[in-house]
Amino acid sequence: MSSEPVVDVRDPAVLDDPMRGYDRILAESPVCRARLPGGAEGWLITRSEDVRAVLADPAVRNDPTGLPGQGAQTQEEAFLALGTPPEHLPYLRASLLSLDGAEHTRLRRSISHAFGASRVAALRPRVQQIVDELLDGLGSGTVNLLDEYAYPLAMAVVCELVGVPEADWADWWRWGKVLVDGDPARITPTLGEMFAYCHALVDRRRADPREDLLSEVVAQEDLTDVDIVALVVFLVLAGHETMAHMLSNAALALMRDPAQRALLRTEPQLWPAAVRELVRTDGPVQLARLRYAATDLEVGGVRISAGDALQVVLGAANRDPAQFEHPHRADVRWQAEHGGREGSVGFGWGPHFCLGVALAKVEAEVALRSLFDRFPAVQPVAEPEWVPLPRGRHRVALEVRLR
Ligand code: HEM
Repeated sequence: MSSEPVVDVRDPAVLDDPMRGYDRILAESPVCRARLPGGAEGWLITRSEDVRAVLADPAVRNDPTGLPGQGAQTQEEAFLALGTPPEHLPYLRASLLSLDGAEHTRLRRSISHAFGASRVAALRPRVQQIVDELLDGLGSGTVNLLDEYAYPLAMAVVCELVGVPEADWADWWRWGKVLVDGDPARITPTLGEMFAYCHALVDRRRADPREDLLSEVVAQEDLTDVDIVALVVFLVLAGHETMAHMLSNAALALMRDPAQRALLRTEPQLWPAAVRELVRTDGPVQLARLRYAATDLEVGGVRISAGDALQVVLGAANRDPAQFEHPHRADVRWQAEHGGREGSVGFGWGPHFCLGVALAKVEAEVALRSLFDRFPAVQPVAEPEWVPLPRGRHRVALEVRLR
């Protein structure tokens, strides 16, 4: 592609106020050239309709290997260029978000039974118990809700489901932070630690199965140890990082919105709609994983060449005025009336749609409802700072006064 990049998603003007930054981009050039998070060039796609079309298009891939054009660098070359040691490549290649087609379906199916509606509904009492214990432990006064409530809950739920022993949760917390911070010098040794840890855990569960997902997965003969390690790493990370920041963003949004809080107090049956609406307006995942055009395509009337990189902006699509009546305002009643069919992409779209969506909704509903039942007047003590990351909407901390 010859045209110059017009937007840099790492630009402080976009990072400091992503919503207003993306509003402008969406209004002026919804499919435009951009410099993407890793520094490469590609297309930035912000309109809701285009984002959904791209994420569901079978001619769009997550793995660029073998594609022509400027995205033609193989996934492996891209990882190696970032300093990834060759021995880590098989795990990164086997990660759900790096796979397409039949291979993706095979690995996703191997764990999807654990995330279905009935299995998740059965977890609700345990989620409530963890939430109640955490709330009991908060005491009174000022606390950091992100570190003392959201992270411990998200970590406990996913680790118990997968089968990671409690003694090791602190390691996962540390590993997750290193990976999100994105410092390449620390990522490589951290990944090495995680892969070695998971191999040892796989061996332990094979020798001594328990009532957990890992014990079920190690019994599946068509999965290699590399497949299983990649699944565990991805699940634990996806299950706690995104979840913790969703809870923190949503709690803050509700603290600042007494009208919606009052509505939820009088009509608690609206909590599931509130969770959907808060993921739409302030979801933790701003950018989807990078995609590539497998053939020449047209997106929103713009011609895109085979091999080009495509960066869809979930946060922009979720506030597209052509799609949503109140793009920037969380409106629980409106969401309830639309029943989740309004086209929000906060959990993704298409074949990589969030596998943990049902669990995430139960966790969020139980955690937020219980927090505001216990502390109806909880308030932030200061304006929380953003972590300057293009990929996520993460706050550094959420200091609140409990009351
Ligand atoms: C509110 C919390 C969460 C949000 C907003 C969220 C959001 C997302 C999004 C946007 C994607 C798609 C990324 C893309 O296509 O590039 C995704 C994928 C995924 N999520 Fe979540 N997620 C959440 C919680 C969870 C939880 C709790 C789990 C598991 C315990 C989970 C497991 C996954 C998995 C396995 C995928 C990859 C699916 C695939 O590639 O087939 N997520 N999530």
